[in-house]
Amino acid sequence: MKILVTGGAGYIGSHAVVELYQAGYQPVIVDNFSNSEESALAGIEAIIGAKVPTYRIDCADNAALRTVFQTEEKIDGVIHFAAYKAVGESVQKPLAYFQNNVGSLLTLLEVMTEFEVTNLVFSSSCTVYGIPDALPVTEATPSKPASSPYGRTKQMCEDVVHDVSAAPTNKLHTILLRYFNPIGAHNSAKIGELPLGVPNNLVPYITQTAAGIREQLTINGGDYDTPDGTNIRDYIHVVDLAKAHVVAVQRLLDRKASEVVETFNVGTGHGNSVLEVVQAFEQASGLKLNYHIGPRRAGDVPAIYADATKAEQVLGFKTETSLLDSLASAWKWQQTLHKNG
Ligand code: UD1
Repeated sequence: MKILVTGGAGYIGSHAVVELYQAGYQPVIVDNFSNSEESALAGIEAIIGAKVPTYRIDCADNAALRTVFQTEEKIDGVIHFAAYKAVGESVQKPLAYFQNNVGSLLTLLEVMTEFEVTNLVFSSSCTVYGIPDALPVTEATPSKPASSPYGRTKQMCEDVVHDVSAAPTNKLHTILLRYFNPIGAHNSAKIGELPLGVPNNLVPYITQTAAGIREQLTINGGDYDTPDGTNIRDYIHVVDLAKAHVVAVQRLLDRKASEVVETFNVGTGHGNSVLEVVQAFEQASGLKLNYHIGPRRAGDVPAIYADATKAEQVLGFKTETSLLDSLASAWKWQQTLHKNG
């Protein structure tokens, strides 16, 4: 079964390509390398021992995407990762986010319709919940206004999928996966997160600080209404998250979905504070981290974590990697990067 993976050279995409291949699928990568590097392809190849067909195109480019569908002849399903993902940047460049994130989905759906490809797994995010009234969030928790243009693009993309699926001629079947916070790297340390410039996300900032690339981690606020005053998130190991895609694709191909659009939270079901993550990192690495508590970051949700029951009951999906092991893999990856300059 041939699965097109847009953004397949990116952080989550590269791990999903590996898991798909190892589960017996034929992944095909589409990536414009705007926020990923060729080295991810070498890493994938080193893990699986094979080259994955790769198209260096922008999936918002209709003509280029059509060429991929023509060349590959029969595509059984698509996993659509390709998107911009920096919350702060989305506030600076909202149009670029709407163009790219919503635009590429529209183009992809047009081309999938033309080539009668009917299975889609879409990368959504817990950001669609906004600031929730109650925790943990279930798939039925109502969405609140998004705290950033990035978050709004994910809400809009979910709406697009629902509207397209409601059309009388619709043949599309979609699984929306709402990710919580992916962290860590493949245990081989051959693929992982490659942040460009100063990292926005917590774990790469921690590992770069430990490696001496950044001087000090600033914890964004210590006065939240949480047990230790810092934000709470649900940190999921990226390989666990990648495996959720394999299960979702299989469910679509088996036509087991109970609705044309199904939505699943993909998280561990546990919340950890920023301070707990720092402490777990210190334990996993055996190092002391230089950090201080700074001001709050605009747009941060005080606390969010998943109710992961639906994914477990319906998909049979359960995370396997602890926070400690996830952070150990992130640290191993950082050290590999550092060694290679
Ligand atoms: C955000 C998005 C999420 C998106 C992800 C991708 C929201 C609500 N969430 O996650 O959908 O997939 O970005 O980039 O829009 N922190 C520090 N110091 C740092 C960095 C982070 O204290 O230097 C804290 C943050 O304030 C937050 C936690 O660590 O409490 C996690 O932050 P981060 O890794 O940036 O992810 P989110 O903002 O949760």
